Amino acid sequence: MVDLEAGERANQYLAWNFNSGMAAIDGLLSHLLGYEDIVLASRNIYGGSYQLLEDWFAKPSNLNIAVEWVDGYSGDDFAKRLDEVTEKYADRIANGKRIYVYLESPCNPHGYVLDVAAISRASHTRGWDVIVDSTVGTPMLHPVLKRDDVMERPDYVIHSYTKELAGSGTTTAGVVIGRNETMFIPKGESVPFTKPNGDEVTIEWNNSLFWNVYYIKGAFLDADKAFEVLNGMKTYEMRVVQKTINTLTLAKIFDAHPDINVSCPALPDSDNYLHCQKNMYLGLPAALFTIDMEGNGNRAPINREVFKQFFDMLEPAIGMQVSLGQTNTVALCPALTTHSELSDSALSEAGIKPTTMRLSIG
Ligand SMILES: Cc1ncc(COP(=O)(O)O)c(C=O)c1O
Repeated sequence: MVDLEAGERANQYLAWNFNSGMAAIDGLLSHLLGYEDIVLASRNIYGGSYQLLEDWFAKPSNLNIAVEWVDGYSGDDFAKRLDEVTEKYADRIANGKRIYVYLESPCNPHGYVLDVAAISRASHTRGWDVIVDSTVGTPMLHPVLKRDDVMERPDYVIHSYTKELAGSGTTTAGVVIGRNETMFIPKGESVPFTKPNGDEVTIEWNNSLFWNVYYIKGAFLDADKAFEVLNGMKTYEMRVVQKTINTLTLAKIFDAHPDINVSCPALPDSDNYLHCQKNMYLGLPAALFTIDMEGNGNRAPINREVFKQFFDMLEPAIGMQVSLGQTNTVALCPALTTHSELSDSALSEAGIKPTTMRLSIG
């Protein structure tokens, strides 16, 4: 996994495999976040990650972290929000609390792409660490660690193997990748570490992810599932190539239909198009996008009953499973499933309407 993600710099990175993508995210956040720290997150993230941040880490009786959101995809969008958040939480920061930048790119459900390199630079310049959930992109389409300048590389990359990498939809597994020194230090030792912005720090063994969390919490990936992940990874690039072709084709077909609004960064009229072109391998989209039938300037939303009938008729051509990244195409309504714990206002801020359908293309 480290080879795939970091390529020629694989010797600088280490990965720990977890029992699910959520266990990987929880493990990393538990490792990094302290009481009353601040998380600045990109607006569109998987509903489970949203819940973990808002319902667990932000709960006053747990870690009482502050969660702030960024609307936008660029380094400048994040730089601006970072400065606002730094001002808002000046007291906490003066007391040693830290900001962590949490990104999901390309995001679930719309597939929007963030300029991870520019966002990492903006965050590192200000001294804050960056985490990217790159599940939907896969290492091939979304090569966030393959940047020469360490300032442009996120500090941690997460994947849910459950999706494209394992590919079958029948196993849950996840991984966190980070620089060697932050992931494991032999017991009792400490190592010097140069942060991306040049700051020199010393990391003690018990502040590496392994000893602080992984070894203690028991969310390891078991051998049977590791076997399934390894098997899936042998074919994932072939699957992804075919799926991006299918994604481009389907997105264009839906876009030509007068009753359907399409949110897909591969379409030139998407406000995310340029980020997709710049940050994704060959400008290709991830195999995921959304459509809705909520009307637009010229027409009313489609009747709910008609939408329901349409949705129910998709099977068996399109599966109704809640996962993504399987070999078959699957559809779901995020407002009713993956993002159902978001409030109405959070759903609307995330661009998720009642008839928004997420299509994970097979
Ligand atoms: C982007 C993203 N990250 C993480 C997860 C969680 O992964 P897992 O199902 O392996 O816990 C999901 C699940 O849908 C996801 O879409």
